[in-house]
Order: sequence, then C-alpha cells, then structure tokens
Amino acid sequence: MDKIKIHGGRRLEGEIPISGAKNAALKVMAASLLTADTLRLSNLPHLVDITTLANVLAQHGVQIRMNGAVGGGHAGRVLELTAAEITGTRAPYDLVRKMRASVLVLGPLVARAGHAEVSLPGGCAIGTRPVDLHMKGLRALGADVELREGYIHADAPNGLRGAEVVFPVVSVGATENVLMAATLAEGETRIVNAAHEPEVGDLAQCLISMGAKIEGVGTDTLTIQGVPRLGGAEHTIIADRIEAGTYAMAAAITGGDVELIGARAEHLSSVIEVLGRAGVTVSETERGLRVARAGDRVQGVDVMTEPFPGFPTDLQAQFMALMSVAEGASMITETIFENRFMHVPELSRMGADVNVHGASAMVRGQAGLTGAEVMATDLRASVSLVLAALAAEGESIVNRVYHLDRGYEDLEAKLSACGARVERIK
Ligand code: EPZ
Repeated sequence: MDKIKIHGGRRLEGEIPISGAKNAALKVMAASLLTADTLRLSNLPHLVDITTLANVLAQHGVQIRMNGAVGGGHAGRVLELTAAEITGTRAPYDLVRKMRASVLVLGPLVARAGHAEVSLPGGCAIGTRPVDLHMKGLRALGADVELREGYIHADAPNGLRGAEVVFPVVSVGATENVLMAATLAEGETRIVNAAHEPEVGDLAQCLISMGAKIEGVGTDTLTIQGVPRLGGAEHTIIADRIEAGTYAMAAAITGGDVELIGARAEHLSSVIEVLGRAGVTVSETERGLRVARAGDRVQGVDVMTEPFPGFPTDLQAQFMALMSVAEGASMITETIFENRFMHVPELSRMGADVNVHGASAMVRGQAGLTGAEVMATDLRASVSLVLAALAAEGESIVNRVYHLDRGYEDLEAKLSACGARVERIK
C-alpha cells in the first residue's frame, strides 16, 4: 500500500491549481441517469471516487466516454455520459459500501425508471450517517419506499408527484436526491430547509441546463416544476472549495504564500473570515485567491462547523492541524458528524495538545510539531496529517494513502511544486 513521506519545515510558495469539486462531480454524474441524451461534463477531478461512481452508473446502463475513449478504468477531465436506456436498477452492496455517494442514484433511478434498489451504505468512519431523509423525501413524492434485506426498494410505477418536502436537518445528499427526483415528477415540489452548499448549486445549474425548472438555487428553499423529460447538456464542474481550503491551511501552517488558481472567495467566506482572525491574509486575485500568513505564528481561534455558509465540516480536521501550532488555544466544535475527531490521536503523536469533550476539542497550540509515522481512517483526517507533517520538524510517513487518493488529485505534485519535500512510496 502506498505511503507518503514528508520532510517538514519548508515554506510553501508558488501556485496551486484547484481541481474540479469531487462532491459536485459525483452528483452531476448521477444526474446523467435522468436523461436518454448525452451529458458532457468537464473539469472532472482525476480521483478514485469518480471511477467508482462511473462503475456504478455503468451497471445501470450508462455509456461512458472519457476524453473520447469508451470505457477504461480511470476518469478523464471530460466525461460523456449517455443513459439511452436504463438496463439495471440495482446498486449492489459491493459498490455502495465503497462509496456512500452511490446512494445518489436512488432519486434519478426511481424518477426515470419507476424503480430502484440501492444497498444501504452502512456506517462509516465519521459517523452512522443514516439515509432516512433520502427515503422520507422520496416517499413524500409518492414513491413506495421500504427497507428489505439491506436494500432500499423504491417504487413509483406511475411516476412521482410533486409535494412539499420539509427536512428537519440540513442534508446535502437528501436534498440532492429529492431535487433530482423532483425534476421529472408531475407538478411542483418545494424543498424546505434544503442544503445550499455550492455543490448542490452546481447540480441544480446542471439540471437547469438539462431543461429542469428550478427556482431558489443558492437558498434554503428550492422550488421545482416537474417536466416530462430532460435532455442532454454540457456542464463544467465548479472548483473544489474543500481542496482550496485545505491548501489555504497548508500555506498558513508553513508560513507560506500561495496562489490558489480557480478558488472562489464566495464559496469560502466563513473560512476566509476564520483564517483572517487567525492572522492569515486571504485576498482575491484575478485567477483565484492568494493566501499568506502575516505573523510568525497563527493565533488560536474558536470554530464551529455548520452547514453552508458556515465553516465546513470537511475542513475541520485541517483547521485543527493549523490550530495545533497556533499561539494560544482554540475550541473546535463539530456539529455535523458525531465521530469526526479520528485525527486527534494521530495529531497528538506529532506533538499536538488536543482534548476532546463530546463534540468539542480544545486545542492548545504548541511552538512546533515533530515528524512521526501516522495514519487515518478518512479523507479529511488523512490530509490533516499531511498538513501537520508539512509543519513538523523532521520526517513523517502518512500511511493509508488511498484515503487521500479519493479526494485530492496530484497532492504530492501540487505540494512539491510549491517547495514541499513530499514523495510517494509505492
Ligand atoms: C456530503 O455528505 C459530503 N459528501 C460530505 O463530504 C460532507 O461532509 C457532508 O455533505 C456535509 O457537508 C458528498 O457530497 C459526497 P449530509 P452527505 O447528508 O450528503 C445526517 C468528504 O469528506 N443525515 O449533509 O452524506 C448525517 O448523519 C465528505 O468529502 C441524517 O440524519 O452529508 C449528518 O449528521 C465526507 N439522515 C448530517 O445529516 C439522512 O438521511 C449531514 O449529512 C441524511 C443525513
């Protein structure tokens, strides 16, 4: 299994191109199930998760062309997806287990084919992560949804009907599943307390290009007028705000100065505000954002994760790495997932001083960290260890690199180009 070796202590300086957003790309790919015509997507990131979803979609009959070639195991930057016919409506455990986002085929399949069988994804490292809201939303649209033998069975042989769907908590995935399903339902659907993460907005924009009628994009109420059919479209995936935020923190933790090409300030407003309070300057440039640390050390700042536009849970671990070398203390509270502090024991092995009490972690900043051999059990936790290693004295080895490969394209190359000493050990 690959590892990443990092020799810490080098300032990052230069520019980093930000890839297309994984969490937007996956949903937009699932939307290809809604039409018999071709959906042409560009700016897709080169990531294992993209390939996993391509395999799921292929099982349902989606023809996939990557940069002009048919089939193949790896996602290209341009992908053409054509679901001329839905040939299978079952998403098996083996594939869904690998990647929870596969559950996003549920809404499109039941809307287009009248039937779907999708394995329950099960828990994962960061929490139990139920899908009750996905099911509740589809039931409201008239689908008959039940759980049998580990699978969600959804049926709507006579099509879905528009309805009001009120979510008790904000869920990105449930909003997306219901949004996709509602585009082909008869009549009007209103999704109240909808997630308005930029990735949901990107999906909505793609659906609109396909002919969907959606109002309220970017707000917490989405109104959808169902249409009988959707058509093909061309769509460019937005830049990955979480990747951008991660490299912003890499620049900050090394006292560097980095331009993030393609990053958008409006997707990172809470992060920019928090970094500003910590003493990190983030300014807009013509091509993206420039991030530079002003003082010798960052200042401790308290943070609470929240749905967009609040501070993203997907940057909590990286921010904790940064706070572990801050001047003063920082209280970090995780409100989205119940078990998202797996990076704490590993950061502690590098010298971080972190105490977890329930959903909050008290981080007492240290003057420095030391290199160590570490590993983590999910994507963002893993990258937080990379950040800590960049700042640590000496050498670190980050194990289980496959987590990083799920969400960070060319991580070593992007960091090395800015002066970091990072290498992959095969
Ligand atoms: C998306 O997950 C992202 N994944 C996650 O990114 C991200 O952390 C999360 O949104 C929050 O922003 C993808 O987009 C593929 P949710 P999702 O439904 O949609 C509870 C990463 O590192 N909930 O918004 O699964 C749930 O347990 C990943 O890239 C229910 O109770 O998240 C959680 O506490 C990790 N019932 C909260 O809602 C449901 O039916 C928010 O989850 C659904 C969710």
